[in-house]
Amino acid sequence: MANIRWTVVTGASSGIGAEMARVFSGIGHNLVLVARRRDRLEKLAEELRKRDGGIIEVVEADLADPKAPQAVFDAVRALEIEVHTLVNDAGFGLGGDFLERPISEHMNLVDVNIGAVTRLCHLFLPGMLERKQGGIINVSSLAAFLAGPHMATYFASKAYVLSLSEALYEEARPHGVVVTALCPGATDTEFGERAGILKTKLFSGRKMSAETVARIGIEGYRAGHAIVVPGPMNRITAQFSRLMPRFTSRRVAASLNRKP
Ligand SMILES: NC(=O)c1ccc[n+]([C@@H]2O[C@H](COP(=O)([O-])OP(=O)(O)OC[C@H]3O[C@@H](n4cnc5c(N)ncnc54)[C@H](OP(=O)(O)O)[C@@H]3O)[C@@H](O)[C@H]2O)c1
Repeated sequence: MANIRWTVVTGASSGIGAEMARVFSGIGHNLVLVARRRDRLEKLAEELRKRDGGIIEVVEADLADPKAPQAVFDAVRALEIEVHTLVNDAGFGLGGDFLERPISEHMNLVDVNIGAVTRLCHLFLPGMLERKQGGIINVSSLAAFLAGPHMATYFASKAYVLSLSEALYEEARPHGVVVTALCPGATDTEFGERAGILKTKLFSGRKMSAETVARIGIEGYRAGHAIVVPGPMNRITAQFSRLMPRFTSRRVAASLNRKP
């Protein structure tokens, strides 16, 4: 029992987070699944208990609430477990011009994509550093490498997650703890529809499966990588985004994000 590893996955009710949960369960981790849709979490928990025989706990939380990360941490502490890995996957996008949406929607995005990720890292990292093992996977995006007109706050939020993760990677590394930024490109999940971007060039092309993204992300984390960009085309895009002058990259992003 002492050797069983526990992983907390936020955003486990669909898409990449659900697939991350499946991969971690498959390699013998017990799980705490976090999101708002409890029914989805319970269904996944049941599937994984049957398939892998591990212990799967469910914590319902709306991570837009600044108090939610502490509540998740307290719920995990009440289980009397040591968390080996935290996956900060919960997040969402908002397509369209900045002024098309009320500020409340943008701030909601900031609270989930930035606020909750920062708070959860601050809560879970001390135990990892003390035990000198495990780490965190923060789900960022290819969007982190450039500014994103017509999806401004989402791109900015993912740049924050990449920067935070890289900095924490260096701070945690001497203690044997890994912090990985997973930067997927377009992935086939509920994300595109929820963000209202299904008709943009960015999202109407080929997409990777959430399963492949999750598997590559976890492999990279376990290999101790700071940044994981899944898929050769996405790696080329990330590289080009870094080499291009910023006035070019932001115009490319604008044309990809613009609605027809
Ligand atoms: N799909 C892509 O093309 C793509 C590309 C790059 C990066 N990403 C990133 O990948 C991550 C996962 O997205 P996905 O593509 O798998 O989309 P998804 O299928 O829509 O999953 C998003 C997950 O985040 C959870 N979530 C959203 N808001 C939440 C809140 N307020 N409180 C708690 N949980 C919340 C959702 O759960 P509930 O709704 O049940 O709460 C869901 O489990 C996100 O951070 C996204 O930015 C996606």
